Amino acid sequence: MDKLRKRRGKYRSKTALCVIFVIALTIVACTGNTPTSTEANKTAAKDTVGVFVPPDTSTIPHDPFGDMVRYGRELVVNTAYYIGPEGTVGKYLGNKMNCAHCHVDAGTRPFAFNYFSAHARYPQYRGRENKILTLSERVNNCIERPHSGTPMPLDCKEMVAIVSYIKWLGANVPVNQHVKGDESLEIEYPNRAADPEKGALVYAENCVSCHGKDGEGQWTPDSATYIYPPLWGKWAYQHGSSPSRVVKLARFIKANMPDKKATWHKPFLTDEQALDVAAYINDDRIHPRPEKKNRKIPDYPNVATKAIDYDRGPYSDTFSELQHKFGPYKPIVDYHKEHKLPIIW
Ligand code: HEC
Ligand code: HEC
Repeated sequence: MDKLRKRRGKYRSKTALCVIFVIALTIVACTGNTPTSTEANKTAAKDTVGVFVPPDTSTIPHDPFGDMVRYGRELVVNTAYYIGPEGTVGKYLGNKMNCAHCHVDAGTRPFAFNYFSAHARYPQYRGRENKILTLSERVNNCIERPHSGTPMPLDCKEMVAIVSYIKWLGANVPVNQHVKGDESLEIEYPNRAADPEKGALVYAENCVSCHGKDGEGQWTPDSATYIYPPLWGKWAYQHGSSPSRVVKLARFIKANMPDKKATWHKPFLTDEQALDVAAYINDDRIHPRPEKKNRKIPDYPNVATKAIDYDRGPYSDTFSELQHKFGPYKPIVDYHKEHKLPIIW
């Protein structure tokens, strides 16, 4: 069971209300008084068609492989407890976030950095490292950044467990294939740059109650991990990790935040609001975050493979670091098309 979810006592009452609401709706539906479905409902229903449905945890086999899968899931949910700075089985992470703070619902939620097709798509070329990475090496990427940690030995039990869990989750995904819902939600890019000042207002209205005035999140009572994870400051994700890119983050926010209000098929924020708030969170001029200086190998040694919203040059185009970070992105995309350069997000 998810210890983390259990700790979120505050939300139990809301969850209970939702359950009652759903039961009430079901009763209405079963008694024949089905409410007329609105256009919005129809669109939502259409969008959900074909979205990958991960297997239920009750189907994890009761054998040695299944035991590893269960342990892997436990590690993804309660990462800091096991392998955090004061970890009980190893000290690898530099912060007390859990994988599931970003890989929501233990990597099983559509459009929430899930693990649906991860096992099917690795080993894979990664531009940031300019190398073919195995899935275990990719897990270590997240341990180094965003978790500010040191890589786990590739053959240690915890690594094998995490990879076993990811394999079990995506066992029905054909090799090298994507499935619907495994990527981030698409958003439209406005003709202006994302605006951290506008984002500050979005944050104050919709995010501050959980993530805090200084983006510090909220600790569990024993400070072992977070009820609400941090968004900036020294315990948050590192610079150079995927969420530190504005577009990457905005897509996640649009599909998932504010928690309990937004879903990928019924987002809460508009595309512009999601971009603005992502710009506010990731603006290093006002919000510092950990960064490893002087990397032996710089990110994206082959600049042509650099993500459009990566905020450090050099680039294969003529646009500034500021424009790559905040946009407007359309002129950059057009330039890449015109010059036959890769368009990578
Ligand atoms: C602060 C957020 C965050 C945390 C914490 C985090 N990750 Fe990630 N992880 C990401 C993002 C963002 C991506 C890139 C997803 C994408 O490109 O769509 C990613 C990618 C991955 C991938 C590759 C997925 C794929 O399909 O290519 C794996 C595997 C992974 N993470 C494992 C982990 C594990 C295991 C942990 C915990 C030890 C962890 N991550 C912690 C944000 C995070
Ligand atoms: C009701 C509480 C709540 C609100 C409000 C909320 N979040 Fe979250 N947020 C969470 C929780 C809990 C998680 C961890 C993932 C999960 O379990 O859903 C999270 C995770 C995140 C993450 C990824 C993890 C990290 O720390 O990097 C980001 C980014 C984020 N939220 C941004 C936002 C933004 C932006 C808003 C406002 C638009 C917002 N959240 C509003 C509760 C909240």
